Amino acid sequence: MKKNINLYGDFLKDAFRDCRPRIGIVLGSGLNNLVDSMEIREKLSYADIPGFPRSTVAGHEGAFVCGNIGNVPVLAAKGRFHYYEGYELDDILAIMRSFHALNIPDVIITNAAGLMDPSHQPGDILLIRDCIDMTHLSRALKAGTQKTSRKERQIAMDAAKESGIRLGEGVYVWTTGPSYETPAEIRYFRTLGGDLVGMSTMPEIMWARENGMRVYPFSCATNWASGISEQPLTHEEVSETAQRVKHDLTRYILMLCQRIGD
Ligand code: HPA
Repeated sequence: MKKNINLYGDFLKDAFRDCRPRIGIVLGSGLNNLVDSMEIREKLSYADIPGFPRSTVAGHEGAFVCGNIGNVPVLAAKGRFHYYEGYELDDILAIMRSFHALNIPDVIITNAAGLMDPSHQPGDILLIRDCIDMTHLSRALKAGTQKTSRKERQIAMDAAKESGIRLGEGVYVWTTGPSYETPAEIRYFRTLGGDLVGMSTMPEIMWARENGMRVYPFSCATNWASGISEQPLTHEEVSETAQRVKHDLTRYILMLCQRIGD
């Protein structure tokens, strides 16, 4: 069923009339602490937005938070919608559609991902250079817009240097989840050129670029992907690494917002 996107677009325009956000930020699992560094002006729970999907994942609060980072007004989305929760593509894209309805030109997207590239370590932050769709759900989106542009890359790299974080780069493989992959799947994804694996982000990147927004997509590599290390992969490891990295990621995103806002 087609959702009434106009309904929440108009509602949000009214709700954030005074904030006028310049950058939209999607905060991945365990990476929500960025809002503690914001001077918060408005907060709106997804549950209070007519026609908006609801967040079902534990630890995902489900709210937009509008405020300033330095002198740049930003709108952060705490909690996103995943295919494995039973949502359709329209729901998954609700946050991007909201940013677009608010005429936000720049979007920062973060996620937690499994690491396949052995030249990095769990705990590293990587810019998503390109994507591979293993869900085949993105056929509803146009192809060819998943690649990070040279300009976006330059801004992302400059902000990394200035904030003193080591920023890697990689190709993100999108899977439906909810379970982690098998070791054989990971070996296969590696042969395709994948460096990271996760259950979100690719449709958001594609839709936002198709609709003329600039996108800065990042993965926090929270664990070795299945079968790469001897140790079995657990949700606890993913959460623990996200906790460890979130301070670096926050410092980086604060700097990136300043650079984008310049
Ligand atoms: N696979 C898929 N999604 C993930 C992983 C993983 O290893 N880690 C965090 N999100």
